[in-house]
Amino acid sequence: MSKMIGILTSGGDSPGLNAAIRGIGKALLGRHGMKVIGFRDGFRGMMENRTQLLDSKALSGILTLGGTILGTSRDKPYAMPVAGKMTDMTDVIVDNYRKHHLDALVCLGGGGTQKNAYHLMKQGLNVITLPKTIDNDVAMTDVSFGYDTALGIATEAIDRLHSTAHSHHRILVLELMGNKAGWLALGAGIAGGADVILIPEIPYDVKKVAAAILRRSHSGQGFSIVAMAEGAMSRQAAAKLAEAGKEKGSKKKNKKQQAREAAAGNRPGNSQFLAQQLEELTGLESRLTILGYLQRGGTPSAGDRLLATRLGTACADLISKGVFGVMVAARGDGAEAVQLKDVVGKRRTVPLDHCWIESARSVHTCFGD
Ligand code: F6P
Repeated sequence: MSKMIGILTSGGDSPGLNAAIRGIGKALLGRHGMKVIGFRDGFRGMMENRTQLLDSKALSGILTLGGTILGTSRDKPYAMPVAGKMTDMTDVIVDNYRKHHLDALVCLGGGGTQKNAYHLMKQGLNVITLPKTIDNDVAMTDVSFGYDTALGIATEAIDRLHSTAHSHHRILVLELMGNKAGWLALGAGIAGGADVILIPEIPYDVKKVAAAILRRSHSGQGFSIVAMAEGAMSRQAAAKLAEAGKEKGSKKKNKKQQAREAAAGNRPGNSQFLAQQLEELTGLESRLTILGYLQRGGTPSAGDRLLATRLGTACADLISKGVFGVMVAARGDGAEAVQLKDVVGKRRTVPLDHCWIESARSVHTCFGD
């Protein structure tokens, strides 16, 4: 009797998901003689028992497709909106796992998905995960697939902004994705030659940003490019957030959430506010571009296709060896199974002494600090 493996994609979509599904599925079918079904729309489809057979026909021609052929959602097994009420649907999901006689469930997603998979692991299911997110903030892996593609899209945007900023002697602020980790703004800011990079890990002083821009202007560079992560915030906003975080008890979560929204200017207002501040402080015209979902769209880069395929095939090999309760982490040119319990609840943020930050400072990039 062939083993039966389920796959789902959960959380924000990203380029590379279909390449990963293909890598897992083709290896399981071809090399390990197993069968594969996909659940539609993440954990919600697993709760509603909506499936799609992933046979060789379904897996053909998807390597280069953006998004996910399975669909996705941000629903959590233990808190799922059902008839307008958040309901724990774990038991229904476990039942459907058993109904399909699954030998394992593969979950492709970011930090939230790792946590949801771990929750199901504790219910006795054989789960194994892959790290996916354009934010590159999944812990315990060198990199997540989706990041390389988004990095290319964001860098091309910065390249294009240079010509218009130069022509109009303007400040161009580019808001990039990355609510709690600044990898995308940092990487694209360096690759695109941004003059200022603002990331959530380094709360900025707007006066220092303006001073750096004015130094450029006085030296004849009448334009500046600011690469700003959507979660970057000013020192004042960060202080407000820290203050709210000191609140005790259940109010803490609401208060903290309110403060975070206030701090981030009820995203995406923050970048707009910064653009206005910089115009006032420097006297240079300032314009904002929010790159948004373009960073998650379209065909995966070659790097992400390669990464997703090698993690997917490594996942299939681990399943064939009966290794579960792990995330297939990227490690160098290869992959390493890391315990899910060590991944959950952590976020891979940019260390303040990271070599990329030092490298950017060496070419006079301002971080607002
Ligand atoms: O987690 C990836 C991400 O694209 C973040 O960068 C962004 O803040 C978030 O998802 C947007 O979430 P949604 O797609 O649910 O609007």
